[in-house]
Amino acid sequence: MSGEQRRRPLISANWKMHLNHFEAIQQVQKLSYLVSTEELESVDVSIHPPFVDIRSVQTVLESDGIGFALGAQNCHPEASGAFTGEVSTQMLAKLHVHYVIVGHSERRTLFGESDDFVAAKVRAVHAAGMTPIICVGETLDEREADATEARVARQLEAALDGSSPDAIAGFVVAYEPIWAIGTGRVASADDAQAVCHHLRAVVEEIAGSSAAASIRIQYGGSVKADNAAELMARPDIDGALVGGASLDADTFAPIVNFRSAAG
Ligand code: 13P
Repeated sequence: MSGEQRRRPLISANWKMHLNHFEAIQQVQKLSYLVSTEELESVDVSIHPPFVDIRSVQTVLESDGIGFALGAQNCHPEASGAFTGEVSTQMLAKLHVHYVIVGHSERRTLFGESDDFVAAKVRAVHAAGMTPIICVGETLDEREADATEARVARQLEAALDGSSPDAIAGFVVAYEPIWAIGTGRVASADDAQAVCHHLRAVVEEIAGSSAAASIRIQYGGSVKADNAAELMARPDIDGALVGGASLDADTFAPIVNFRSAAG
């Protein structure tokens, strides 16, 4: 099931709490010069700026005809209501947001997001016509205790609760080992492939082989230009969710252009 039919890669820039709306516009325009339209025929790119930048990035993408998808880093599952400081999926869809990161480890650990809350967001994103990027990943202790596969399987099962096989087929999963995020320590391509393969098997159990064959699974955690091509060559790794190296188009473009970087 792994490799027969390659899925279209998705390379995503998670800017986290970086870049104001002026800087966001600059980076998107710079990236558009560094990524060729031919490259975008075979790779999807999504940009996930802070909420306050989204409208500005939408405007520059649409007015300049730039072929990157707009993304968000988070959402609230309710359509509207008394949720001070939150942003709904309807609001994001109205700005033509295509992908929404859900359940990032920073949200889970720093903001106490539960598996149930993550699953509700996944369903809300899909119901609003957008695609969730569902993040899962283990701590260093869990990896050292050989608990990685069990941990990520539990997270993924919980996040997919209540979603149909048809919906799941179009979702994106991001495997982000917590110990590799922002540390410069990248999982080896073999280790990342093994976990992504396991996640695909979990999807097959939950939603069947067709959903498992089409769901896209990204790797995230210290992805850089010099390791992207090796990771992307693995049969179950369909893309990358990039933090630090996505903040400057000079370091992100070679990741998007991983095929040419591989020579
Ligand atoms: P880094 O690429 O900075 O390690 O961040 C990964 C990440 O958390 C992307 O969501």
